[in-house]
Amino acid sequence: MTGQIVQPAIPRGLVAALVLAAAAACVVVALLVLPASSRDPYTRQTLELRGSVEHGAQLFRLNCSGCHGIAAQGLVGPDLHGVSQRKNQRQLIQQVVSGRTPPMPRFQPEPQAMADLLAYLNGLV
Ligand code: HEC
Repeated sequence: MTGQIVQPAIPRGLVAALVLAAAAACVVVALLVLPASSRDPYTRQTLELRGSVEHGAQLFRLNCSGCHGIAAQGLVGPDLHGVSQRKNQRQLIQQVVSGRTPPMPRFQPEPQAMADLLAYLNGLV
């Protein structure tokens, strides 16, 4: 006797609709998120400034070391060494100002202070 494998029937129309919905979602994300972050005046202004590593280190000790450790070695938050290889400058700014990854709070440093923090983070190799 030969048995037949029974396949679950997935309607083709449903698959196509799901693929289409996923593609549409990608387009929406690309249109909304990417240009917004590159045109954001705060980010642009911050990236035009030259940051001070020393002042950045001071800001870091006061605001960030409670979670990331006094030498950014990681505690509640991750080790930040080499973070500028994992994330680009815009992503680093977003990480600090967005508050999108609790428990890390949303910080609102002046552009110069943000540039200083960036200089410090970029120096953590
Ligand atoms: C209340 C704790 C807390 C404080 C304060 C905090 N962080 Fe964080 N931070 C975190 C946590 C937790 C994560 C991981 C978030 C995730 O990705 O889920 C994180 C992630 C990051 C990352 C991304 C790390 C990576 O590997 O991608 C950077 C950069 C960062 N923090 C910088 C800072 C800076 C700069 C400050 C100070 C202005 C700061 N954090 C203050 C908790 C904190």
